[in-house]
Amino acid sequence: MATIRVPADERVLGDVEAVTAFLAAEGIEHERWTPAHPLRAAASAEEVLAAYEPEIAKLKARGGYVTADVIDVRPDTPNLEAMLGKFRREHWHDEDEVRFILEGSGIFFVHPRGGKVFAIEVGPGDLIRVPRGTWHWFDLCAERRIRAIRLFQDPAGWSPRYTESGVDLGFEPVCLGPVHLPTRA
Ligand SMILES: [Fe+2]
Repeated sequence: MATIRVPADERVLGDVEAVTAFLAAEGIEHERWTPAHPLRAAASAEEVLAAYEPEIAKLKARGGYVTADVIDVRPDTPNLEAMLGKFRREHWHDEDEVRFILEGSGIFFVHPRGGKVFAIEVGPGDLIRVPRGTWHWFDLCAERRIRAIRLFQDPAGWSPRYTESGVDLGFEPVCLGPVHLPTRA
């Protein structure tokens, strides 16, 4: 379940409705997906895409995405640090960044124009759509594991364009894990 952190305000949101509403106000779509049928832990990419076919089809129709694939990143993935290095500097894309998390976790930092940076920690079941042009960066949590469905409008257009602002240097990619907020009275 995604959590939001606004470091400048020392604010943390962990309630699904609050998270989705916060992100919607920033133009970022968030949904929780469950598979149409149970998935084995060792399910192949094809099985994963088949299990989420209805959600993927809806998203494709809404956003003009033409392809979907599954990425798998583990601590022993070759060139992992070099790969992460490309995405942990503030950048934007000419295409939307769409991820549905199957396993593991990661943290997106988003820098609204003229606004406060906030972090979105994502885990299994979270779909997130970061619109094209949004300034952001991404890192994995400490376990260095993520498996995710990606959707593309045009894979060729999906490369980082760096702001070179250095803003990313002021934020530690520390994941909180599931947040236990005080229950409402
Ligand atoms: Fe990105």
